[in-house]
Formats: sequence, structure tokens, C-alpha cells
Amino acid sequence: MPAQPVPQAAPLSPLPHWEQTPADLPDAIRQIKTALRARIAASGRTVEDVFAVIEQQTEAEVGEITAARERGETIWPVIDYPDIEAGTVPATARALLRRRGCLVVRGHFGREQALGWDRDIVDYVESNRFFENYRGPGDDFFASVGSRPEIYPIYWSPAQMQARQSDRMARVQAFLNGQWKHESGGVRWFDPGRDSLYPDRIRRRPPGTDSAGLGSHLDPGALDLWMTEAYQKAFRHLFDGTVEQYDPWDAAHRTAGPQYPGSTMCSAFRTFQGWTALSDMARDQGVLHTVPIPGAMAYLMLRPLLADVPDDDMCGVTVNQVFPASQKWHAPLLEALAGIPDVRAGDSVWWHCDMIHSVAPVTNQQGWGNVMYIPAAPWCPRNERYAAQVREAFRTGSSPDDFPAEHYERAWANRFQPGDLNDSGRSGLGLR
Ligand SMILES: [Fe+2]
Repeated sequence: MPAQPVPQAAPLSPLPHWEQTPADLPDAIRQIKTALRARIAASGRTVEDVFAVIEQQTEAEVGEITAARERGETIWPVIDYPDIEAGTVPATARALLRRRGCLVVRGHFGREQALGWDRDIVDYVESNRFFENYRGPGDDFFASVGSRPEIYPIYWSPAQMQARQSDRMARVQAFLNGQWKHESGGVRWFDPGRDSLYPDRIRRRPPGTDSAGLGSHLDPGALDLWMTEAYQKAFRHLFDGTVEQYDPWDAAHRTAGPQYPGSTMCSAFRTFQGWTALSDMARDQGVLHTVPIPGAMAYLMLRPLLADVPDDDMCGVTVNQVFPASQKWHAPLLEALAGIPDVRAGDSVWWHCDMIHSVAPVTNQQGWGNVMYIPAAPWCPRNERYAAQVREAFRTGSSPDDFPAEHYERAWANRFQPGDLNDSGRSGLGLR
């Protein structure tokens, strides 16, 4: 699937770009901000004009969400899995999914199936003496409580692979990918019907946990979002004064470009991030929240260009740290933070890859909080490249390249084996 550049409608002033992390970050930030302001000005509008449009749009969305919350409505759309399988998702539900950019799939897997997977994971790690050998967190992204991890750096359990390669997972991923525009300008940016089985970890948070949660942030990238050529094209309408045409569901130029390396990077293009619940979780027990406005990316990308932000500052975005969404720079957006409703084991939870999210704090958590992280990462040049590393990690039981090099499972004989792959699994790993 060769990615070819889509011709620009009109000549634009060029933007400097850095395909690797710039050596002098403050200088690169100053340069890109000057160039972006100049490009927007060439459209006849100022940055302030353009940002006012975005502010108006996001204010309306935030107002709608806070009003719905006050009326006691659930903010997160919910779709029943059988409707996805039968192709009978009502148009209104589809529209709400696109508006809010997030979704709970009820009954994605049977509750007994999910609870069984949870038990299988416990057996898998215990049979391999994982807790005795656990060396502490391999990164500082998720803090662990005591000596037992909350995030298990485990990737190749039979349970995880069975879920990743299941037909039910493939159907939901295809449905979610289908919300995106995946072809334009003669380029097929990704294949909505084929997932790349992005391997990620497990979270098991026991009853009684006190957790500070995770601050609001987003995951699609950091400085590379402004500074690489591919992202500059992906966000072209934000950067050339035609902000009304920005479409958060357009995959053009998102699926081939590089990302700056770092401990928080994700090599894959994900249409949606997601996880599958392996326990029941109540909405007030330290659960996931999002700012359910996919178009808020326009706000996040252009806010640093306003005059009140120092010239060498991108509203706190830098390298080796996730993109923070902060009270200081993004307060109006954060008013819309909305938590998931109660979920049961077997439900899955999804959110658009650009969206701000956080995990609420909890004291003395009631019940377990167990999930398998499984996103929708459709086949595209970027994911095909990463799949080569995933295949090698799978073959050797290693931690995948996007994660700390902990490699607990290399000697675990009961991990998922190549002979257990089905067609979907082989296809996802690029083995067909
Ligand atoms: Fe995140």
C-alpha cells in the first residue's frame, strides 16, 4: 500500500520540519511557531481569528456535554455488541459515537468468557512465579503499588492472544475503523478490515487500592505532531487557516510518518485506543475519563500559537513525556471530562486516538479493576513496519519494542504459541 502525497490545493509557505527529534528544542519550537503563524496569516486570517472559531465550536460542545451531565444523562455512547455483529447499529448511535469519539461496547465478550480470561491470566503469571520475580516498574509511566504491579508487563498470555485474534474483536475493530475516512486522493491510508494486533499490557487493580490515577493527557504523539512533515499534512487545515475543514476522522497522512522515539511513544497508528474489561467496574471506582470531543485536537494544536504562551513553549508539550492537557492551558476543555458508565466484565471501552483522557483517583477501591489493553490498530504502512518487531517479540516471548525491555515471558513455556494462531492472528502479525 504505497502512501503517496496528496497534492495541495494551493501553494503554501513551506514549514520547516524535523523527521527526528530536534537537537535544540527551544529553537525548533520558536521556528515552527513563527512558520505556522506566517502560514495562517497568508490565508488572510490571524491565529486569533482561527482560534476564535475553534473556541466557539468547543465551547458549544463543552456546553452540550455539561448540560447533558446535569440532566443526569450518560455521556459515553453505549452500543450492544449484537448490533455491531448484525450490522444493525442505529444511525443515531453511530452519529453519537462520531460526535463523542468514545464508546462502550456492551457484551463484547460473554461475562463468563472475560472472567475466565482473568483467571487464566492469574494462573499464567503464578505458574511462572511472576510475583516472586517481579523487579519493579520498568518505566515511570504507571506507578505500581507496593511490590505487586498494577500494570503487568505481560503480552503473550493465551487469554490476551485469544481476545486479540477473536472474530468478535475483529468485528468491533472494523466497525470502529469504519468511522474513519481511510481513502482519499487515490491513497488507501489503511485497511479497515485488518488489524495489526498491537500487543499491550494488562492491568489488575485489586480491591482496597488507593490510587492517584493518571493526569489528563493524550497519546498520539508530542512535539512530532507539529514538527514532522507527515503530521503537518495530517493537520493541514489547522495550519493553513482553513480550520472549518479540519476532520478528526480523516486518516490522511497519519499512517506512514515517523514518531520521535521516547519512553511514551506508540509506534502504531490507532484509530481508537481501547480496553476490554475483565472485571465489573463501577463508575466511581477510579475509572477512565475522556474529554469526549474529537475536534478538540484543533484547540490543543493551535493553543500554543496564541500570544500568552512563551515563544519556546508548546503548552508544556516536550519529548519523553506524554502530551499533557493542563488547567493552565486547556481549562475550558477539561470541564467536559466525562467518565465511563458502570461496565461489566466482557464490555469493551474505546476512545478516539487524539482524545484527552485521564484515570480518576480512588481510595479503597471496591471490587477489582482489571482490563486487557487492546486498541484498534488497522493495517497500514506504519503498523506493517511495527508488525515485523511484533512478530519477533511474539516468537521469542519478548516485551514489544514500544515497551520497557523487561522480557518476563521469554522462558514461560505456557505462553501462546504460533500453532495457536488462527487466520486473523496470522494476518494481524503479517504472517499471511
Ligand atoms: Fe494514555
